[in-house]
Amino acid sequence: MPHAYFVTGTDTEVGKTTIAAALLHAARRAGLSTAAAKPVASGCILTSEGVRNDDALALLGQCSLALRYEEVNPLAFAPAIAPHLAAREAGVVLDVACLQAAVGAVLARRADFTLVEGAGGWRVPLSGQQTLSDLPVALDLPVILVVGVRLGCINHAVLTAEAIARDGLRLAGWVANVVDPQTSRLDDNLATLAERLAAPCLGRVPRLAQATPALVADYLDLNALLAS
Ligand SMILES: Nc1ncnc2c1ncn2[C@@H]1O[C@H](COP(=O)(O)OP(=O)(O)O)[C@@H](O)[C@H]1O
Ligand SMILES: [Mg+2]
Repeated sequence: MPHAYFVTGTDTEVGKTTIAAALLHAARRAGLSTAAAKPVASGCILTSEGVRNDDALALLGQCSLALRYEEVNPLAFAPAIAPHLAAREAGVVLDVACLQAAVGAVLARRADFTLVEGAGGWRVPLSGQQTLSDLPVALDLPVILVVGVRLGCINHAVLTAEAIARDGLRLAGWVANVVDPQTSRLDDNLATLAERLAAPCLGRVPRLAQATPALVADYLDLNALLAS
């Protein structure tokens, strides 16, 4: 039975890509086939092969299935701004049905373990009244929440978990990514998160000098996720 999850975070730059790439790495190490999608990316560079985004490339690097870049990242916008604004400037309508079709095609490849990385946090706008959270809802994907641990993260984490539950999705696990190692009362903050998030903690990742997928994977418990 293939496992597929949507990866969201308490904010942008909290470690969604870092944790997703590490989970994919852990899955490969466990002998599972892997696939990934980053359906919408803003902040891309133009290469001779087309527009490329760092997140999508990092995820693609951990896919055991041979996926083309465009399959992993169908919508890529150059400016590093909110996706709905980047799309508007590019004259593209960000529509959840299009994203659902693109990600659905990756899921149809039926890798043992597939991750779909969002953009920013849970309620990032697409177009009109649509938000990126409509995508995991349409695909009925369980959610992994990456908490960027710093002062203020408990509120962001709890609000995000509430929104996920209200949207009818299951929080399959969360990761404490200690982006600010100076966070006061770190252990107490993590204990509070554990009390208030109704899902297994998949790991506590320290601030590493090199946050490579292989090194970060050592701090993650894939089995806690697959068993949940
Ligand atoms: N545990 C960590 N230790 C060191 N650097 C990290 C860690 N987690 C994330 N980073 C770095 O922080 C930045 C943002 O992380 P990223 O995974 O791109 O976040 P997001 O996908 O949520 O925007 C990147 O430069 C990444 O390498
Ligand atoms: Mg990212």
